[in-house]
Amino acid sequence: MKNQLFRKLPLDQLLNKQGTAHFNKSMNASDLIALGVGAVVGTGIFILPGTVAAEHAGPAIVFSFIFAAIVCAFSALCYSELSSAIPVAGSAYTYSYVIFGELIAWIIGWSLLLEYGLAVAAVATGWSAYFQSLIEGFGIHIPKALSGPLNPSEGTFINLPAIFIIVLLAAILSLGIRESNRLNKIMVFIKLGIILLFIFVGVFYVKPENWQPFAPFGFKGILTGAALVIFAYLGFDSVSSAAEEVKNPQRNMPIGIIGTLVICTILYVAVSLVLTGMVPYTELNVGNPVAYAMELANLDWVFGIISLGAVISMMTVIFVMMYGGTRLVYSFARDGMLPKVLSEIHPRLKIPLKNTWIYALFVSIFAGFIPIDKLAELVNIGTLVAFAAVSIGVIYVRKMKIPGLKDGFKVPLYPIVPILSFILCVFMITQLSSFTMFTCFIWMLIGLFVYFVYGRKHSILNK
Ligand code: ALA
Repeated sequence: MKNQLFRKLPLDQLLNKQGTAHFNKSMNASDLIALGVGAVVGTGIFILPGTVAAEHAGPAIVFSFIFAAIVCAFSALCYSELSSAIPVAGSAYTYSYVIFGELIAWIIGWSLLLEYGLAVAAVATGWSAYFQSLIEGFGIHIPKALSGPLNPSEGTFINLPAIFIIVLLAAILSLGIRESNRLNKIMVFIKLGIILLFIFVGVFYVKPENWQPFAPFGFKGILTGAALVIFAYLGFDSVSSAAEEVKNPQRNMPIGIIGTLVICTILYVAVSLVLTGMVPYTELNVGNPVAYAMELANLDWVFGIISLGAVISMMTVIFVMMYGGTRLVYSFARDGMLPKVLSEIHPRLKIPLKNTWIYALFVSIFAGFIPIDKLAELVNIGTLVAFAAVSIGVIYVRKMKIPGLKDGFKVPLYPIVPILSFILCVFMITQLSSFTMFTCFIWMLIGLFVYFVYGRKHSILNK
């Protein structure tokens, strides 16, 4: 039994089978930054600077963003080392399968599922808020009951637009459409343009008295805020997953990852400062704070452009996260941890079609009924668990002799960086609400149940 739980995926065989050892090394640091900013900037920036400032941090949310960026930077370096040493699909789940063995890999994978699955749901919920404010500009109103999560006291029962966008993007994924680097770059420019528009127009409407008091909830509020805004940085792990396609990864990988984080941090801090300077933080607890600030300032044209831009940016984030999530479930099924139907590839479309729709169905249920703040917290805890595992993984990988391990990017200041990264992640987990921890615990129990009833018996390593 013990042997079963800790059996490891043989990396050398995996590499031979997948042929991933021969990627075309064509990406440079700026491609990586574009990829990173494209996957990262989406909902967080359009919503969290408002809602988290209102409830947890006040204008001092800028420090929450900076602190969260530091935590992400440490984990990001660890991600880069593992992804260049173990260049196979499945991210932290596969790394753990190779390093720690089956049971731990499953637990990490199951947390990642929480990240990817609920991130799609959370971003879809954010999309819904901006979409509704956009179409209201054209006089179209969605009936209240169908416009938000299950909350009868507020008169909302189901978030229909959030479900709609998930179904629409699942349909696009089913066509087999892949985002190309070029399309991604265009999207990144649109996003950046809209955010810069907000900053440069909004700055003229800042009233410094709105920054008083600057940290109404104290240091504790800033830390809680940091644990919440981690969400806005998620997606940078997509940069590390490109590790094997990068020229000179030793140099370009850290530039790509740290560059992405620096750009995002500057944008997030600037947006937070302008937003909390324009509107008293107590009034920012709305679904679309960035557009709302423009509305209050009677800047209707900017309001319209920002809502449209937000709607488009969030769609790309949902798309990337949904892609990542379906491929994660695919890796589970490929390894026998979930039923084979989830790894069936459609013969003509060459994508896991059934998996995509089953995934979309589950995610829509979450998006339709649960409010965004609860969703975002759960996403964060799932992610932080995976980050912590990856940090420790770096130490194991350096100590163990794993056949097939590639010699690529190495974390600087070893072992300080991975150890600090692990401690910071665990610390951030402790800052989340007890409701979130409890829900995560239940989620893990379900995961263990699935493993002991199904995965352990069907694992391909049984053969
Ligand atoms: N970082 C992504 C976003 O903010 C999840 O939308």
